[in-house]
Formats: sequence, structure tokens, C-alpha cells
Amino acid sequence: MLVFILFTIINSKQVSFLRHGIRSPNDYNDQDKEIWGDYPQGYLTQKGFDQVKLMATNNFTIHDENGYCNYESFNMISSVKPRVIHSVIAFIQGLCPQNYNEILVQYFMDYYKQYSTDTQNFDKIINSNFSDPFKLNFETFKINNDFMFHGHKSEQCPLIDVLDDAIYSSAEYEEINKQVRQHKQFKNTFKLYKQCNRNSNVTEETITITQLKKLYSNILCNEAEGLYDYNLNTEQIDFLMNIFKFQYFEIDYSQPLQHQSTLSYILKWLFQEFFSEVEESFFYGHDDNQYALLSVITKEQSYVKFAGRLQFKITNDEVNVFLDDRLLITNFCREGVNCKISDAIRYLNKYVNPNIERDCQLII
Ligand SMILES: *[C@@H]1O[C@H](CO)[C@@H](O)[C@H](O)[C@H]1NC(C)=O
Ligand SMILES: *[C@@H]1O[C@H](CO)[C@@H](O)[C@H](O)[C@H]1NC(C)=O
Ligand SMILES: *[C@@H]1O[C@H](CO)[C@@H](O)[C@H](O)[C@H]1NC(C)=O
Repeated sequence: MLVFILFTIINSKQVSFLRHGIRSPNDYNDQDKEIWGDYPQGYLTQKGFDQVKLMATNNFTIHDENGYCNYESFNMISSVKPRVIHSVIAFIQGLCPQNYNEILVQYFMDYYKQYSTDTQNFDKIINSNFSDPFKLNFETFKINNDFMFHGHKSEQCPLIDVLDDAIYSSAEYEEINKQVRQHKQFKNTFKLYKQCNRNSNVTEETITITQLKKLYSNILCNEAEGLYDYNLNTEQIDFLMNIFKFQYFEIDYSQPLQHQSTLSYILKWLFQEFFSEVEESFFYGHDDNQYALLSVITKEQSYVKFAGRLQFKITNDEVNVFLDDRLLITNFCREGVNCKISDAIRYLNKYVNPNIERDCQLII
């Protein structure tokens, strides 16, 4: 019996990296200000909440036949940004339809409480029964030195700023911008940029891919929320999507320090979860976390959707990686699929820097 139980534990498990649902743009341009009014920036929407809840209902079954979850059956860590906390609430509501309140109260006590900066507000949250989460205030949580969810930010890693300055003033970056400005889809895309940023003094000669990437990021929010139809043609979508991916895979996650800074903590957690006793582990975070992982796992460049899932599925001693149910060809072993866990760890361990805090500091 014991042998059987141990076997089932090791036999199959999965570690899921999850992105929050549909949100408002992080940084409103002139047009976004009109569309969103006083809705907070970078905030989950009701539509995003429903999306995450449905994703949980459709993709995960950890509850029993009556809809009750056992708190001990999963591990979860999560970012403390309000859009992620809202998504965690939606996720648990979908995951544990009958006892989500009990599960959430326990999770808030075990996990979020240590990051709370306001006891009164925290008590209000855990006594709320989570039936109207948009009435709650989640701005009162803070993780210091947050390498797990925001390792890419200069707050954690000051040297990233120095690196960015070098990239953005390089001849290569200028060359890419020149090429983009010669593309057939550039002129109408520049017009679109001006339409959304009326007060900007940027010109056709000075606009950069980084500015176009930001524009597309906001467009993706507005379209997902159904607030505005930009009527982009297929070629223009491809043009913008290629810029979007270029910014992530060739700029934000292209240098060793960027990989180490974003991935050292995440990978240490991942390895630990490979060998944990639960069958389900959840990392609730941001698209940045998934882009950082994707940039080293596979050669493919993919878009990380709202409520998107990057999942490591383990069967016996082999691992496969899926992005929204699509099997990825990994760099872990020659075949790219069914790689040994030990090969995956050996490969990924290159991106773990045990002294990342020290190596991120400027030494003057
Ligand atoms: C996961 O959820 C999404 C969104 O709800 C759904 O479209 C998809 O089919 C689900 N995948 C599986 C394997 O059930
Ligand atoms: C949750 O609390 C609200 C307001 O306090 C109340 O109206 C609602 O009935 C409660 N829901 C449940 C499921 O207890
Ligand atoms: C554009 O305007 C900003 C202030 O809004 C100013 O700092 C910048 O120098 C201007 N750029 C050009 C190219 O005129």
C-alpha cells in the first residue's frame, strides 16, 4: 500500500506558471485615458476575473466529487501585485467551488500575511468571504527584494539599468529601428501611434521599437477587454507581434545577467517543486516570468496570453513542457521531449546564480 502511494506521488505531477487575466494597460497613453477613465492602471478587470475562474474550472481538477478542495493537496506562491491577488481569488473560486473561502483564508494567512503592511486592511480582507473582491484593497502588500516575481526590475538588480543603457545606445539597436522604419507596415503603424499618443513629439525618424512594443501591449489589453477595435490587418498584426516578441526575446531576455536575475529564484523554486510531495504546484505571476523561462527553455518565440499557462508535466522521471496545452520542443535533451528530469535540471541550472544579489550591485 505504501509503495503504491509513493508510486502515485512520483508518477505524475505538474508545476504550472500562470499569468493573471485581462487587465487595463500598465501605462495609459492619451487614447487609453479616454477609454478607461479613472479605472486604475494595470488592474484586473471583471472580464479578466471571469476568464481566470473559467480557466481554473476547465483546466484543473483538484477538488473532490462534491467540489471541496484539500488545502494540503497543492503548493502555491504568488506575486503581491493587485492584478495577481485578484487572479488568485478567481483561480481558487474556480478550483474549489464549494470551500474557496476557507482555502483563501488559509492561503492569505500562510502566504500573503507576511507581506502585509496594514493589519486592519488584512483583517478586513480575510473576513470578507471574497464574494466581492473588487471592493477590497490589495495595494497594501509588499515583497522586499522581490527576485521571485520581479527579478528583472532595477529595484532588485541595479546593474540591469546599466545593461539597458548599453543596449539602447548600441549600433545594433539603432540598426533594428532603421529596418523597422522601412517596413511596409511602418507608416500606418506610426499613424496609429500618433492617434493614441496625440501629445507625443515623436517623429517617423525617432520612434523606436520599444515605443511600438508599448503601443501594442496596450492595444492587446483594449482588444481583449473588448473596449476598442483597431481593425488591424493580418500583416500589421504580424508586424506588431514580431516587434513585441523581439523586445522580449532579443532585448529584455537576451543577456546572461537578465536571465540570472529573473530566473535564479524561479528555477530554485521549480527544482524544489519537482521533488515536492504535492501533485500540483502553482506559480501565480506575470508574463515577464513566463517570457524569461521560455527564452531559455525553447528556441520558439511565443506570445504569453492573459490567463496563459506554462506547465511542466512530470511522468515518472521525465518532463514535458506545455504552453496552453501545446507541447514545446525544449533545449533540455536531444529529443526535446520526454527529457529526463536530471537533464532538465542540469540544463536549467546554468541560469541559476547563487550570488545574484551581489552580482546585481554596482561596484564603484
Ligand atoms: C483550458 O481552459 C481554456 C480556457 O477556459 C480552454 O479553452 C481549454 O480548452 C482548456 N484546456 C483543457 C485541456 O481543458
Ligand atoms: C458574503 O458576504 C456578503 C456581504 O457581507 C453577503 O451578502 C453574502 O451573502 C456572503 N456570501 C456568502 C456565500 O456567505
Ligand atoms: C519631446 O518632448 C519631451 C517633453 O515632453 C522633451 O523632453 C523631449 O526633449 C522632446 N523631444 C524632442 C525630440 O523634441
